[in-house]
Amino acid sequence: MVPYRSMTQEQLLAERDALQKEYVEWKKMGLKLDMSRGKPCREQLELSMPMLYMDSLNDMLDEKGIDVRNYGQLAGIPEARELFADMLGVLPKEVIVGGNSSLNMMYDMFTRAMLFGFPESPCPWKDCGTIKFLCPVPGYDRHFAICQQMGIEMINVPMTPTGPDMDQVEKLVAADPQIKGIWCVPKYSNPQGITYSDETVRRFARMKTAAPDFKIFWDNAYCMHHLTDHPDQLLNLMEESKRCKTEDRVLMFASTSKITFAGAGIAVFASSEKMVEYVKQLMNIQIISYDKVAQLRHVRFLKDINHMTAHMKQQSSVIAPKFRAVLDLFEEELGSLGIAEWTKPNGGYFISFDAMNGCAKRIVGRCMEAGVILTPAGATYPYGLDPEDRNIRIAPTYPPIDELLQAAKLFCLCVKLTSVEKLLEQAAEA
Ligand SMILES: Cc1ncc(COP(=O)(O)O)c(C=O)c1O
Repeated sequence: MVPYRSMTQEQLLAERDALQKEYVEWKKMGLKLDMSRGKPCREQLELSMPMLYMDSLNDMLDEKGIDVRNYGQLAGIPEARELFADMLGVLPKEVIVGGNSSLNMMYDMFTRAMLFGFPESPCPWKDCGTIKFLCPVPGYDRHFAICQQMGIEMINVPMTPTGPDMDQVEKLVAADPQIKGIWCVPKYSNPQGITYSDETVRRFARMKTAAPDFKIFWDNAYCMHHLTDHPDQLLNLMEESKRCKTEDRVLMFASTSKITFAGAGIAVFASSEKMVEYVKQLMNIQIISYDKVAQLRHVRFLKDINHMTAHMKQQSSVIAPKFRAVLDLFEEELGSLGIAEWTKPNGGYFISFDAMNGCAKRIVGRCMEAGVILTPAGATYPYGLDPEDRNIRIAPTYPPIDELLQAAKLFCLCVKLTSVEKLLEQAAEA
């Protein structure tokens, strides 16, 4: 196929008419497909069902014989702290095992910061005037929504192939004490699937911050979620920070939402021992203990980091073919047209798609009109505002593969149609 930009006006008009006809046919099909959220599919959930069959008395007693059905052990049962410490590359005493959602733990952390501040804070964040957060873009919409709800000003920092643009990050955090932190998804980032380079991690550990209570929200949601046999490697931020004596700035989060059950997994927080003690003392008022039955079941089911890795291989064998199918289709339908770029991630849950500037909203709207729901255009940016209106997050894991391919075909058609129209508009303006 000829690249669209090399087509004559007549060729573009003919292409538009043909695509328009095809689109009308698709609309008649009355599709109802959802490619909007990164959810595990049924087959993935089935892989963890044995966890729910543990109901003997032995399955209620932890390794010290303590009955996990009862109150106690605020920071989680020791064997869960150990397992998740291995997953995050920290020590068990640096871990708090929480409820079923890491997003909830992040939200709680913001609430504590706003109400009470951290040990190094000059005052609670709510009393510091307008505070600001750095948001690598494109990024995770629910991170940005927390800042928005709490009235925290968000500053976009562009992502690069090695992580956030660290020249910008260092400059901004060194100059402005009102910048209290940054959101990071360091491995297989949402939505681009980028893993931060060693140098990026080291710069996070050693950078000078004007705010004494600057925090890195290190959301390692996809630390185990490889799609290939050659996984990306992420340097251990905690170890690097200890070398620079900046470990109190590191707030790590993760969960088993996409390891076992998205709605009934285990979330985890890790930081320096000092920060863990501080958080525990505040948490002690909030809760007596989280669901330790679930914690013990997870430990007995996942066993150790090697078993967890093997379990994640099974997860990958379900979803990697879905990623491949979508990527192959994109290549086949759009590869030669010069109107879009997309990521080919080694892990995580998403493909990040960049259309021509000014086209994302129209593409997503068109898909919706024909019965395919995508993540709203703009969602990957703070305040839902993609300044170039071009980024679209594709979530291939949930639909069965035949539905996924159908949705992806319609998506490609909408990309082509919208791009041709854009080129014709641009030609008319010139
Ligand atoms: C980067 C990131 N963090 C956190 C979450 C939510 O995690 P949880 O289910 O543990 O609340 C998601 C879900 O898509 C995510 O993509």
